[in-house]
Amino acid sequence: MKPEGQDKMESLLTQIKTLAASADDAGRKKIIQSLQELCYEIEMPQDSMQRIIYLNLQLPLIRIGLDLKLFDILGESKDPMTVDQLAVKTGAAPTLLGRILRYLASIGTIKETAKDTFAANNTTQTLTIPGVQSGVYHNFDSLGPAFQALPDFLAETNYQDITDVTNTPLQKAWNTHLPAFLWMQTKPANHAHFNRFMTAHHMGMPVWLDVYPIEEKIQNLGGDQPVFVDVGGGVGHQSVLLRERLPLTRVGNKVILQDLPATLQHAIQHDGVERVAHDFFQPQVVKGARIYYMRNIIHDYPDEKAVIILKNIAAVLGPDSLVLIDDMVLPNLNVHLHATQLDMTMMTSLAAMERTTDQWHALIEKADLKINRIYSYTTSLRDSIIECALA
Ligand SMILES: C[S@@+](CC[C@H](N)C(=O)[O-])C[C@H]1O[C@@H](n2cnc3c(N)ncnc32)[C@H](O)[C@@H]1O
Repeated sequence: MKPEGQDKMESLLTQIKTLAASADDAGRKKIIQSLQELCYEIEMPQDSMQRIIYLNLQLPLIRIGLDLKLFDILGESKDPMTVDQLAVKTGAAPTLLGRILRYLASIGTIKETAKDTFAANNTTQTLTIPGVQSGVYHNFDSLGPAFQALPDFLAETNYQDITDVTNTPLQKAWNTHLPAFLWMQTKPANHAHFNRFMTAHHMGMPVWLDVYPIEEKIQNLGGDQPVFVDVGGGVGHQSVLLRERLPLTRVGNKVILQDLPATLQHAIQHDGVERVAHDFFQPQVVKGARIYYMRNIIHDYPDEKAVIILKNIAAVLGPDSLVLIDDMVLPNLNVHLHATQLDMTMMTSLAAMERTTDQWHALIEKADLKINRIYSYTTSLRDSIIECALA
């Protein structure tokens, strides 16, 4: 590029950085996406080919970086470090290490500051977060083989929907018939990484109570009307969050956590949350509560099963009851990469499905409910509260 072109480019980059610094999360993501689209647009076939065909080299190399603690070491170092210094720290052969470091710099995970000298950048710092590190291990170790098996799996099943939790590419890859979560329990190291990854998955993102006007929705409760039933609530994080955000003093207005007995054994103990063992495929036992809440439940099931769960709740709704489904609601058009890749992951390992706005409307109608309103509370993933009531 000519010097004047270089100057123009620097000035444009500075403007974009300034714009990003003052943008909110949605604005920042829009800038990233636009720049990404621009990159694809100006690529020549040679560039696109090089970018695409080596995509599955990135994760193994980043995992090696983690195994060698390169990101932690560079992240902690005040000054850039030479290959020789890093070789002493890691025990790796200098030539091999230099090649790995150059690759990691070329994909932007570290910065090359001078010949054979490297430093941390923004991405390096992210790769020092324990939950993110476990995300790399989980995606490489547990999901990697399943993604690899996906093309053959779909060809063998004639490109039909994946709806059986015991027959997904994950079972094919790992030669098991156990559903993913049970299979993972047979692999303690993989399970530990998954659990640690979950602590980082939504880091820094808003929660549903940041956008859903809960106080307005729980006005005029009946004296002994349960206020909140957390159906399939797991260990009860959302019930506890609700109790903490909204101290409800009336004894009769219970917050009830429901799940299978094995899960409830691990539930968070909280005086304000009653634990009730319940199978959501059976008739609902708590009648007429104000809110029936389900987080990351419906997306685990194909429509036929989801309708059974929803109808069990619809059958006990009172005139002022609401059903809150807390799941991703994909826009009908232009779904963000963060959401599409999660959708593929759910499909490949759990036979689960993220639904678009239209698909949610169709499902809810089948369960004799209607959608009052959708409250989205994250930008790229579009985690949302789908507020429903009797049709
Ligand atoms: C993806 S987790 C979601 C947990 C929780 N809602 C959350 O968002 O953290 C799915 C939950 O459904 C529970 N579950 C699975 N099958 C169930 C059933 N038939 N009846 C009730 N709960 C069930 C699991 O034990 C697990 O806690």
